[in-house]
Amino acid sequence: MKSVTINTLKAMKSQGEKFPVITSYDASFASVVEAAGIEVLLVGDSLGDVIQGQGSTVPVTMEDMIYHTQAACRGNSKSLIVADLPFMAYAIEEQAMENAALLMQAGAHVVKLEGGVWLEDTVAMLAERGVPVCGHLGLTPQSVNKMGGYRVQGKDEDAAEQIYTDARILEDAGADMLVLECVPTPLAKRISEALEIPVIGIGAGPYTDAQVLVIYDMLGISPRQPKFTKNFLAETGSIQQALRSYADQVRSGAFPTTEHSFK
Ligand code: KIV
Repeated sequence: MKSVTINTLKAMKSQGEKFPVITSYDASFASVVEAAGIEVLLVGDSLGDVIQGQGSTVPVTMEDMIYHTQAACRGNSKSLIVADLPFMAYAIEEQAMENAALLMQAGAHVVKLEGGVWLEDTVAMLAERGVPVCGHLGLTPQSVNKMGGYRVQGKDEDAAEQIYTDARILEDAGADMLVLECVPTPLAKRISEALEIPVIGIGAGPYTDAQVLVIYDMLGISPRQPKFTKNFLAETGSIQQALRSYADQVRSGAFPTTEHSFK
């Protein structure tokens, strides 16, 4: 695999080629991700759940994100590395700029943040200063306490319209990618068709431009297995083959199916 850039992914979207994204938090898994030819590696703040056992992403700090971004980058020189800005690290613009700089200097190529219209100026400010941004809408786990739990978002018409509007705003502000988590399939389809930037789904059905999974979920070793994931290790027998099979099934459209999606 050649080194992946945001232009690679935009070209893939315009050619209708789907791509896989997977989380990793250390050098060993990151090198397996590169060997499997997976275009995008996300150093997700899901590490709060799967590495630290915190029960949510809220306790994850900038120090944690820098440590794991540096580790993942040491193991992978080809995938595009996206790193999460953790809870409250971008609540005000100045903080967002300082913390985005720290993640980029740790090796990330793109920073990801959760939220809609309230981030319009922050996204524009980062984009103008040369920081590629990935938005994250739908179920935004950093807001789990405000949302009252991990629930599918955008189920009624008003909520769906708000997510659609937020997606347009983030793209217009300069975001280069968007994650849509746990939204009904028709809403994810509508947003993916409307945006020029790649839309990466998780629990968002088969019509997004890319799919992302948490690596421990797709290896079947997370404490809880959400509906939208699949145990690729069980059907392959090795971590290397599981990642290749995930990548193949995303590219061919075989994953996800309706079984992993919400109506
Ligand atoms: O932190 C994470 O792993 C994520 C994905 C679930 C999209 O944000």
